Amino acid sequence: MTPLVGLDVGTTGVKAIAITREGEVVSSAEEGYPLMTPHPGWSEQDPEDWLRASEKALARLGVDAPRVGLSGQMHGLVCLDEHDRVLRPAILWNDQRTAAECAEIEERVGFERLISLTGNRALPGFTAPKLLWLRRHEPDVYARIRRIVLPKDYVRLRLTGEWAIDAADASGTLLYDVANRRWSDEVLAALEVPHEWLPPAHESTEIAGAGDQQAAALGVGVIEPGTVSVVLGTSGVVLASLPTYAHDSQARVHAFCHAVPDTWEAMGVMLNAAGSLRWFRDALAPGTSFDELTADASRWSPGVEDLTFLPYLQGERTPHADPDARGSFTGLSLRHDRGALVRAVLEGVAYGLRDSLELLRDLGVEPKTGRVTGGGARSGLWLEIVASVLGLPLELTVVEEGSAYGAALLAGVVDGVFADAGEAVAASVRIAKTIEPNAAWAPAYQEGYARYRALYPALREVEDR
Ligand code: XUL
Repeated sequence: MTPLVGLDVGTTGVKAIAITREGEVVSSAEEGYPLMTPHPGWSEQDPEDWLRASEKALARLGVDAPRVGLSGQMHGLVCLDEHDRVLRPAILWNDQRTAAECAEIEERVGFERLISLTGNRALPGFTAPKLLWLRRHEPDVYARIRRIVLPKDYVRLRLTGEWAIDAADASGTLLYDVANRRWSDEVLAALEVPHEWLPPAHESTEIAGAGDQQAAALGVGVIEPGTVSVVLGTSGVVLASLPTYAHDSQARVHAFCHAVPDTWEAMGVMLNAAGSLRWFRDALAPGTSFDELTADASRWSPGVEDLTFLPYLQGERTPHADPDARGSFTGLSLRHDRGALVRAVLEGVAYGLRDSLELLRDLGVEPKTGRVTGGGARSGLWLEIVASVLGLPLELTVVEEGSAYGAALLAGVVDGVFADAGEAVAASVRIAKTIEPNAAWAPAYQEGYARYRALYPALREVEDR
């Protein structure tokens, strides 16, 4: 039987995976590449690195497949000339250079009009502000642009010759009319970006592609309201599938098309989730294992005697779209030791996820369970804390292969192995374990969350002085 192949073009490397039509992993391969930061806050990669890594990883899979499903880091800008040659390094989703262009976009289009046209506000990571930055700072490059693509779609172009994008990934450009699933002529006109630079946009199930978050959500079966995707990766995400389009009036959560036709997704993105624990370990306990740190943390009671951590170590997206927000520990006492600090980090990240969940609730989402993925999900203590703070049971799936797995399922839909995304999920996604909220911890976490909510505005006022 021909396996289904998925490829995720990530930020640290590509991951290729081959699965059976029952969802079992046949083989997988990863290939890394560098990230360049030529100036503070910049984040760039060479698209040729993605291509070389993709070809190597696919070759190492050792299978022959008719199609490769694609997922990838969202929002990145690749500029091509009239011969489809790459004009400059790609500017990535975590690049922070475009604050002025974001302000310009919200000024040109109008803050509310922009949200009503695209579902989203201008955030430095998104694609459109990067184009305006190039127009201002690298006019020679800008003048030679004939086409643009997102990271995984550059790989598609070079592997298959097809210049295309899916509605899901197009949603993160800020040039897409998410409600109506087409490029927004009004935004394009206001920003003076030619429509002909943009690839034709299809449904994910027509061309086997999606942004990494949507593909990851599909890969754990988050395609119906009620089950949300909770990602405890470097960044943290809470994503809900929406049967009808909805957006937050202030765009504090992103409103994007989902990888399933005629459905949408809303998601809150924290820039540092497991990244906060890694920062703590590297800064204060180098060489110590995460297991040792969380074992120390488990000796403290929930709420850590009022010690609170804010995880805004490099600014934040949800709920505060604030690149200048910063992290903090407050409420330290002589009793607090390293384990206490670790527990405060685990709890602070959980409170940040709760902020996203509450915003999804405001959109009408009624979450019943979360499907959790990411490196942080390896800690039983962290899962129990997150389940208790969110007030939701958290499910771990049998196969945890992330976005590449969702991309492989999309390849199966396009090739007719599955009738649709629902059938793909039913055939392949199984629950391995459920972590219930700890009822005894609920009062401490209600109190802790209220304290957490009050801290950002209070500290921001001090920082602004
Ligand atoms: C989603 C986002 C990240 C990137 C990187 O909005 O910015 O998840 O896709 O993986």
